[in-house]
This record gives sequence, C-alpha cells and structure tokens, in this order.
Amino acid sequence: MRTQVGIVGAGPAGLTLARLLEREGIDTVVVEARSRSYIEQRVRAGVLEQGTVDLLDDAGVGQRMRAEGLVHHGIVLQVDGERHRLAMSDLTGGRTIVVYGQQELVKDLVAARLASGLRLRFDTECTDLVDLDTDRPRALLREADGTSSELECDLVIGADGFHGVSRQLVAAGSQVFERDYPFAWLGVLAQVAPSCDELIYARHANGFALHSLRSPTISRLYLQCTPDEDLDAWSDGQIWDELQTRLGVSGWTLAEGPILEKGVTPMRSVVAEPMRHGRLLLAGDAGHIVPPTGAKGLNLAIADVAILAPRIIDFLRRSESSGLDDYSDVALRRVWRAQDFSNEMTLMLHSNPDRFEDKRQQARLRYVVSSEAAQRSIAENYVGLQLA
Ligand code: DHB
Repeated sequence: MRTQVGIVGAGPAGLTLARLLEREGIDTVVVEARSRSYIEQRVRAGVLEQGTVDLLDDAGVGQRMRAEGLVHHGIVLQVDGERHRLAMSDLTGGRTIVVYGQQELVKDLVAARLASGLRLRFDTECTDLVDLDTDRPRALLREADGTSSELECDLVIGADGFHGVSRQLVAAGSQVFERDYPFAWLGVLAQVAPSCDELIYARHANGFALHSLRSPTISRLYLQCTPDEDLDAWSDGQIWDELQTRLGVSGWTLAEGPILEKGVTPMRSVVAEPMRHGRLLLAGDAGHIVPPTGAKGLNLAIADVAILAPRIIDFLRRSESSGLDDYSDVALRRVWRAQDFSNEMTLMLHSNPDRFEDKRQQARLRYVVSSEAAQRSIAENYVGLQLA
C-alpha cells in the first residue's frame, strides 16, 4: 500500500487528523491495532473544551455532539464538605465545555471516514516504522490473521497512544520528561441519572472524588486510590459508600444505580521532546500524557492535530518544511501549559501522603474558593486557552 500520510492509531488524534486532511484532498490510510467495536466502546474522557468543539464542528463531524453533548457553564469545587461553584463562563467571557464521551466522538469520526469511502484498517497492528530518515518512510503491518504488509508514505503520524510503537521510536532519540504521582483513580460508569447538573471536584480527608456524567441517565464517578489498587477488593456497595462519604454534603445524597463498568486509571505526566523523529511525527498520547484531573488529555490530542494539519498540507503541496520543523515546539508550548494546569489541579485536590504538601494544598484550595482572581485562572485553563 502507498499513501501520502500514514496514520497509526484510530483514536481521536488519528481520526481527526485524517478528517482535516481529507477536507484538503490529502490521501491518508489509518491503521488501528484494535477492533472497531473495541475503540467504539472503551470508556475514556468526556470533557471537550470550546476550541475542541469548534474544530470538530468545522471539520463537519459535530452534528451528534451538538445534539447530544451537554453544555456546561460551571464546575463545583468541594472543600471541607462545602460546595463552591466556579462560574466558568462568567469568568471567561462566555466560554463553555461540552460533556460528550470520547467513544461517542470516535464513533462519529469512524462513521464519517467510512461514509467518505476512505481507508481505515482495524485489527491491523503497526509492528515497526522504518526508513524514517528517508523520504519514503514505511509502516510494517500485521493483520489479525498474521498476514504482513507494508504501508509506504510521505509522512507517518504516530497517533497510537502511550503504549504504541511510535512513542518508543521517538523516545529513543528524544528527551523524555516524566513525573509519577502517588495516586490513581478508581472510575465507574453507572446507570443512574447524575445527582448534580455539574461536575463536582471534591477534596476529602479520605481522598479526592469526582462526580461527572455522560448523559441524563449515565453518571461517571471517580475515587482517588493508590496506583496499585486492587479493583477486585472493592464491592460495588463499598464504592458507593465511599463516593457518598467523599462527595456528601448535608441535604444531598448521591443517587446509586447499577455499575456498568469500572477500572483504575494510573496517573503520570510524560512529555517527549521533540515529538518527532525524521518523517515520523507524534500526536496525542503518543507524545505526552497528563494526569486526568482537569480533563486535558483528549483536548491536547485535538490541539496537536489542529497545529499539525496545516503544516502537513504546506509540506505536501509546496514542499514547505518549516512548519513541520516547528510543529513540536508549537505543540509543546500548549502541552506544557496543560502539564502545569493538570499538575496543579491534581495536587490541589488529592490527599497527599506528604503531610506538608497535603496541608499546603488544602490552603491553596481554600484560597481558590475564596478568590475570584484564582478562580478566573482555573476557569480559563479549564475551558481551554486558544488553540496554537
Ligand atoms: C472526567 C474526567 C476528568 O479527568 C475530569 O477532570 C472531569 C471529568 C470524566 O471522565 O467525565
């Protein structure tokens, strides 16, 4: 097979990039190691920044997101059992976020690609990327039945996530910056109407808890746990009890329902600099991951491809390579802003085994809920700074 741009990974980054390039008449092939049903079902993030929503709309894949996504104008911060609403839209000149599950967005992008009759290979693993320093890089592929093939390209985009082959190849020649956190999230998806119209980020002596949602009938809830937490040690009843404790305020109870899905989300910050090796460019989690607090991961993936798409087009149409040369620097400025924000939100909201840090972060959270200046800073980062 041959194409102009080979895209490894059919997550939000790879599929959105393919869509942006399709609109400009650039030929792409997307290969994905997993099955279609796997990527369309897996429960991931759910908060889209205004800029992400606008980009998806402009790319012609926003109809269902606009119809079914839930627009939010504020979030709630809970400290010492008291709730404080952070009026995001009022603090940011009217900007909002939209709650819409990542897997719903993936479904929309897959449907759009297939409707355009364009190449998208599921169950096709990229085992290696070779000749990256030549003008004919190749992706070596293996299908589920063991058949091998090759995809020859002008450029390869590594959008195959944190565990993919692209990140490993780039990391070998890049600087990698990392930070581990002494916590993780136990997340559940529950078949019950959300108990509050807005997201609640709660700090409690037992640990952080988050009330989120996916639809008027589905709640998404998280509990701070340890990185090596044994999920099997938690019964559904214990999960609900702990959520009630950490999210509880007087006069309010969390509605409970069947748990549809549960998992443990690790927390790490990782950045590869530069996000490039020859003709391989990284986008999304392949290049960087952030801890989940503040919901920046998916939004960064979309921001990467918004920065990358016009640079690829200039390169392929006019042999103009300066855009590709500065892609990493431009994208990483936003990535580091998000690393700082996600790190700050994570530390401020989680109970910390370091007792000094724990006290300091409690003081910070109390300051935030009492200061409009501090709230404005969180709000503008939360709704998303301008793309690029
Ligand atoms: C969700 C995840 C986040 O990391 C966050 O900060 C808010 C909401 C969610 O999955 O709904």
